[in-house]
Amino acid sequence: MPTSVMPTSKPEGGQQPLAAVTALGLRKAYGDKTVLDGIDLRIPAGSVFALLGPNGAGKTTTVQILSTLISADGGQAQVAGHDIAASPDGVRAAIGVTGQFSAVDGLITGEENMLLMADLHHLPRRDGRRVAAELLARFDLTEAAKKPASTYSGGMKRRLDIAMTLVGSPRIIFLDEPTTGLDPRARHTMWAIIRALVSDGVTVLLTTQYLDEADELADRIAVLDGGRIVAEGTAEELKRLIPGGHVRLRFTDPAAYRGAATALRDVARHDETLVLQISSDGSQRELRAILDRLDAAGIEADELTVHTPDLDDVFFALTGGSAGGTARRHAPDPQDTPDPRNAPDPRDTPGQPKENVR
Ligand SMILES: Nc1ncnc2c1ncn2[C@@H]1O[C@H](COP(=O)(O)OP(=O)(O)OP(=O)(O)O)[C@@H](O)[C@H]1O
Ligand SMILES: [Mg+2]
Repeated sequence: MPTSVMPTSKPEGGQQPLAAVTALGLRKAYGDKTVLDGIDLRIPAGSVFALLGPNGAGKTTTVQILSTLISADGGQAQVAGHDIAASPDGVRAAIGVTGQFSAVDGLITGEENMLLMADLHHLPRRDGRRVAAELLARFDLTEAAKKPASTYSGGMKRRLDIAMTLVGSPRIIFLDEPTTGLDPRARHTMWAIIRALVSDGVTVLLTTQYLDEADELADRIAVLDGGRIVAEGTAEELKRLIPGGHVRLRFTDPAAYRGAATALRDVARHDETLVLQISSDGSQRELRAILDRLDAAGIEADELTVHTPDLDDVFFALTGGSAGGTARRHAPDPQDTPDPRNAPDPRDTPGQPKENVR
């Protein structure tokens, strides 16, 4: 199974769009534990890039390095044209970071949290008040603005978190697990917020453990596991990377079933149910080839279904999920891979550091 980095498709004319973020060979270790083992990234400006991976894969570490919160041990990266090591201030001026663990201060109101961010960005008082009011309105927090943030629901806190990130009008935003712990409605609200940011031309790097989230939002997805990128591409490209795609043909007439089994090569037969299963990537070309062969034999199936693997299949196939966090390079038994959707809410974890970049 190919697990290497896939080539980035080039737009017509061969010119690549400007990159908002590039990274080459990023490495990080804590003691003798390698956390990032040579990460390469290229995120075109104005796109959404998802870093998808299980607990401990190195997602937050990557975000922390790219946002200059911590330094890498090796490799290099440019963010908004600034080198993270040589020009961290340039990077910080261009980005906004919503960390995995909330930067919201629960003891003060939502509005006070916003005004604090405006002060950190050295906005004049009047501008700070205007920007805070606009963002609170945009994120449907005007009514709650004067209440202590500790009384907010998880979704409201997350919205306030993002609103605080936007105070400085960053062109590149890092969102570390923006929807972990949110209910389905709050997740959809967050997705709409992210889409709106992108339609304003903002570049978004988000990390997630949710396959559907990467599928919904991301132009490109990198699957991170055990500190390595084990696959990269669009959702569709990733789905095609792994086996499991097939076409199923169901018949009611046993003679047609037998004729089709002869006409088509490499079919799995299910004689009792009169179902034939053909390995296929589900592409138009392969479907046409199957239908052409059936037509040539004068056979019509009663039912045709195409199963393309979803990102869940990709995730289980490509990420190891071993306790030590080391990558298992080849498809593991999905049975022993923990379900990433059962991850605990990070807000339940005590003593986590608060992150913010200003
Ligand atoms: N300051 C630190 N000291 C020691 N080990 C660390 C430190 N920060 C992270 N690690 C380790 O690095 C690995 C990657 O951590 P990271 O937080 O980047 O993972 P993640 O992909 O964000 O996981 P999650 O989905 O749980 O947030 C983990 O094994 C973690 O224990
Ligand atoms: Mg994390």
